[in-house]
Amino acid sequence: MAKKVQFGSRIGLIAATVGSAVGLGNVWRFPAEAQANGGAAFLIIYIFCVLLLGIPVMLGEFSLGRGTHSDAVGAFRRLSPGKKWWLTGALAILASYLILSFYMVVAGWTFEYFWQSLTGDLYRGVRETAGNDALSAGFKVKMADYVGSTWKPLIVTYVMIGLNLFILMRGVQKGIEKMSNVMMPVLFVLLLVFACVAMTFPKAMEGLAFFLHPDFSKITPEVCINALGQAFFSLSLGMGILITYSGYFPKETNLTGTALTVSALDLLVALLMGFIIFPAVMSFGLADEGLEGATLVFVTLPEVFAQMPLTEVWSALFFLLLMVAALTSTISLAEVSIAFVQDHFNTTRRKACLWVLLPLTVLSTLCSLSQGVLSDFHLLGMNLFDFLDTTATNIMLPTAAILTCIYLGWAAPKGYFRRELSNNGDLGGRFIPVALFIVRYVAPFLIGVILVAKFL
Ligand code: PFF
Repeated sequence: MAKKVQFGSRIGLIAATVGSAVGLGNVWRFPAEAQANGGAAFLIIYIFCVLLLGIPVMLGEFSLGRGTHSDAVGAFRRLSPGKKWWLTGALAILASYLILSFYMVVAGWTFEYFWQSLTGDLYRGVRETAGNDALSAGFKVKMADYVGSTWKPLIVTYVMIGLNLFILMRGVQKGIEKMSNVMMPVLFVLLLVFACVAMTFPKAMEGLAFFLHPDFSKITPEVCINALGQAFFSLSLGMGILITYSGYFPKETNLTGTALTVSALDLLVALLMGFIIFPAVMSFGLADEGLEGATLVFVTLPEVFAQMPLTEVWSALFFLLLMVAALTSTISLAEVSIAFVQDHFNTTRRKACLWVLLPLTVLSTLCSLSQGVLSDFHLLGMNLFDFLDTTATNIMLPTAAILTCIYLGWAAPKGYFRRELSNNGDLGGRFIPVALFIVRYVAPFLIGVILVAKFL
């Protein structure tokens, strides 16, 4: 069914789409990947992946959403009625829902750490029990105790679900767009403040040199695969998010310009994160500690803050930044299912929000408990949290992305991609044949390589 809902302004549309792209992926995946894979050499390959594959695939998703004004399933149904291509959209929706279930739990952790920074509990407890010399061990124990406990992580997960519900129920313009218009500037200002502070650290330049020095000897096929995987994760590709959001783009939106702006801003955030994290860990002698995911955010960075003046202030601001990044991403992940439910079950937006987020509460509860009391419950040797992460991110997401490219390249109505990208011929488009070539031949092959490589 065609939707009449639209983003109200170009700024709002960009803020919402960038809000989806900028998330925990930029903060805790990017620096770790860069550190492990040759610093600037990884960066160059990553930029190459964004330009060569990320932007064309993003354009593909934009064309599907904006051309049909439908959700991820409806887009395929409208373009190819009676065919099974809608299953691609269904796979994307399922992947986004499963990712949302554990992403919400981590979003909750960021809220707890923000709160504990404000109250000072985060540092008081660790300093008392571990002392200043054993901060690392102290924060590790604190994190393990916290995520493994039963009630505390659950409460903050529910708070995040409640915040999502509050924003999403207000609708696309008054909820998603308005929130993004406030949150994204806050996020960029906070990032810039942190980048400036990081430049004053004693070993700032050493940190930057480490981040920006290209070590090409570290470039292997595996590094290229990691860079491509990171580009897809960070740009929110293959999950129906961009199809859904572009369903709210007005007819005259310049899709190529939007894709370039969104990708550039997402890259800028990843770079700024590198400019903050490497000077910080280098200056405080933590360069050998974990920069991977949760350890970076909940152990290594608190150690940095503990050694800075105004510990609690910087810590609270940083976890606020993370919360904002996580919240705008959870909103976009949830909107994929909400748009689907609203369109296909012909229901009101409020009911669709409840239908999506109430069952999510159960799934997120199980994910949270899988870090503690349910940690012995294993699926294919993993706890539920890791199982969902692995299947959704490593298998379902690339599969949906490959199918979307094959559909657009080979099965969509003839000339559809070209018409959408050129706004029915109103915009010039020398880039369009290149994008089509990539979507048709290059992207399915390379994403297929990632998919297979993850199993080897
Ligand atoms: N792109 C966001 C991030 O990098 O965190 C949100 C996100 C989308 C995360 C899709 C994970 C994902 F699979």
